[in-house]
Amino acid sequence: KGCKLVGCGSAVPKLSISNDDLAQIVETSDEWISTRTGIHNRRILSGDETITGLAIEASKGALQMAQVEPDDVDLILMCTSTPEDIFGSGPQISRGLGCKNNILGLDIRAACSGFLLGLLTASGFIRALGFQNVLVVGADALSKYVDWTDRGTCILFGDAAGALLVQACDVEEDALLGYDVHSDGDGYRHLNSCIKYNEKEETILNSNGAASFPPRLASYSCIQMNGQEVFRFAVRCVPQSLETSLERAALTSASVDWLLLHQANQRIIDAVATRLEIPREKVISNLANYGNTSAASIPLALDEAVRCGKVKAGDIIGMAGFGAGLTWGSAIARW
Ligand code: ACO
Repeated sequence: KGCKLVGCGSAVPKLSISNDDLAQIVETSDEWISTRTGIHNRRILSGDETITGLAIEASKGALQMAQVEPDDVDLILMCTSTPEDIFGSGPQISRGLGCKNNILGLDIRAACSGFLLGLLTASGFIRALGFQNVLVVGADALSKYVDWTDRGTCILFGDAAGALLVQACDVEEDALLGYDVHSDGDGYRHLNSCIKYNEKEETILNSNGAASFPPRLASYSCIQMNGQEVFRFAVRCVPQSLETSLERAALTSASVDWLLLHQANQRIIDAVATRLEIPREKVISNLANYGNTSAASIPLALDEAVRCGKVKAGDIIGMAGFGAGLTWGSAIARW
């Protein structure tokens, strides 16, 4: 079996926050943010918008493009680090799409590499387990976990969802040509949002009034990041990974029609393109409008590039995700 990419979709929140808006709440400027990151605006969930709602909207777009009915999907992979339900929200997407056949929906949690790893997981389900239509959704709302007084992180992130339908096909049509994936648990200290235990522990009393046990209730800390270390990690590991994927696909960077990286920082994207000698006109970037949308960034940028006619059938795309974990990986795919 092979797998092909047959439809994509995306959705973003209504509320747009500009660099000037952020300069009203932290000591920063449009000039600093745009030159250091390439970001001008980001969208943030507001009102009754939810990340699951955006994921459902993005999924509908992908199914429509692929002309596949919800009941013909047999697996939904929700790639997110910010689900509205700690137990996962994959099943909620299936419900929101109106799938009537109790198909499996499950979550994959791998920060900004989530979508890329979801795509490879989809290919595994198709190739090894005989699944037919797998919907891979990348959706994140990091705005919920940002310290809005920390100018080093709050300027970077935005909320969004993107989706891609991956379909089984004959091996000759296989569109996933090469891949490479890694993680480095030691590097987690450079970027994380870790569990923290509430300081005041309330002791549960047993029936005769004696102290029984102190439950440790927990929440998550805001995103902690050493930006320079993450920057260095991305610029070092992403080109290496893409080179490995290209080699496995028996291709060189000259065959890449589009470079589509996780949208974290324009300087990272430019550095990777330079290392691989991929010219700027082949680089897909919409970071300026949406900021770093974590697992959503690759399918969101892909969807825009496909819908505006930039990416055409048969084009070779070099994709790479990288982020917290640390995790990173790449894939060479044909649209
Ligand atoms: N406005 C103005 N000044 C700022 C701001 C800001 N928003 N943020 C930091 N500064 C200041 C710092 O305090 C520092 O001042 P000092 O020299 O007086 O100490 C100065 O600017 C330089 O700070 P650096 O951290 O060295 O700035 P740098 O050029 O590294 O840019 C940035 C910071 C944009 C965060 C960059 O390091 C970066 O993009 N790193 C990668 C981050 C990333 O991609 N993270 C997401 C990974 S994906 C995921 O999994 C979630």
